[in-house]
Amino acid sequence: MAKIAFLGAGMMGLPIARNFLRGGHDVNVYNRTLEKARPLEALGAVLAATPKEAAAGADLIFSSLINDDASRATWSGPDGALHGDVKPGAYAIEMSTVSLTWVAELNALAKSRDLHFLDCPVAGRPDVAESGQLKVFAGGSASDVDAIRPVLAAISKSVMHVGDVGSGITFKLIYNTMGAIQVAACAEGMQACEAAGIDIAVAAEGFATGATGSPHVARHSRYMAENSHEDPVQFSGNNRIKDLAYGIGLIEDVGGQSVIGHAAKRVYEQMVELGMGDLNDSELIDALRVVHKKDRA
Ligand SMILES: NC(=O)c1ccc[n+]([C@@H]2O[C@H](COP(=O)([O-])OP(=O)(O)OC[C@H]3O[C@@H](n4cnc5c(N)ncnc54)[C@H](OP(=O)(O)O)[C@@H]3O)[C@@H](O)[C@H]2O)c1
Repeated sequence: MAKIAFLGAGMMGLPIARNFLRGGHDVNVYNRTLEKARPLEALGAVLAATPKEAAAGADLIFSSLINDDASRATWSGPDGALHGDVKPGAYAIEMSTVSLTWVAELNALAKSRDLHFLDCPVAGRPDVAESGQLKVFAGGSASDVDAIRPVLAAISKSVMHVGDVGSGITFKLIYNTMGAIQVAACAEGMQACEAAGIDIAVAAEGFATGATGSPHVARHSRYMAENSHEDPVQFSGNNRIKDLAYGIGLIEDVGGQSVIGHAAKRVYEQMVELGMGDLNDSELIDALRVVHKKDRA
């Protein structure tokens, strides 16, 4: 069994770390707000006061943090994981949805400490993380990916090796850009049905069972129709905007276009302007209702 350092005990990090513990691994956990990691102690986790302390001597160091700033502070801040007594030849694995620019920088920092680096962002919401059924998009050498597969088995149902370092996050950001566009399109479609006098329960059924029915549309149209959203919040409007900013930046950096990505970002920004940015992405329909009412007044 491996000695794991896990950095970040948020909605995703907590269940992921829990599944590593259930898998029989030794887990040291760091979270900026220590109390949030407390539930892991009952399963045998050791809580660390700093990322540096958590990472010392670990075979694998994983992180699940909100964005570039959080990842930078945790890996390379004054008490960052990379500034401690890391074990040469250990694996540093970034699971957060961060920018490709930061992943490239982090890879260089990890290499300078003789660590193997992989970007392994994940797909699946906290309930999927809890059931150990995440999809991992891995960027790294084939030998590094194969070396960590047995450990990833505790948290995931599949590990897709996308390519070299950086390709996991590249794929994830394009994947999340498409996902964010689908949810925004779903909110606009549902709100338009409502404005046109169609029963939105009927609309949700039609969207979910027709050619429009991706898992995102099926799930979100139901929440919107039932006016019953995930509690606690699983993925917020602010997070959608974060992902779209990284995703659009990457797509444009490689010479692609993201006309629809920009449009979707603008749709979510209306949530923020109404003070609703911390709500579930499915609550976007409520922001569109307010905008619609204002436009009609
Ligand atoms: N939620 C989802 O459905 C989902 C699905 C797939 C991937 N993801 C990705 O998984 C990652 C984690 O998301 P989450 O849903 O677990 O978010 P979350 O519940 O908001 O947790 C965020 C984590 O980042 C830490 N953090 C925030 N700002 C920080 C800072 N400045 N310095 C150090 N730590 C900081 C938080 O620490 P505190 O507890 O101290 O605030 C917490 O550990 C994100 O990159 C997200 O995009 C999320």
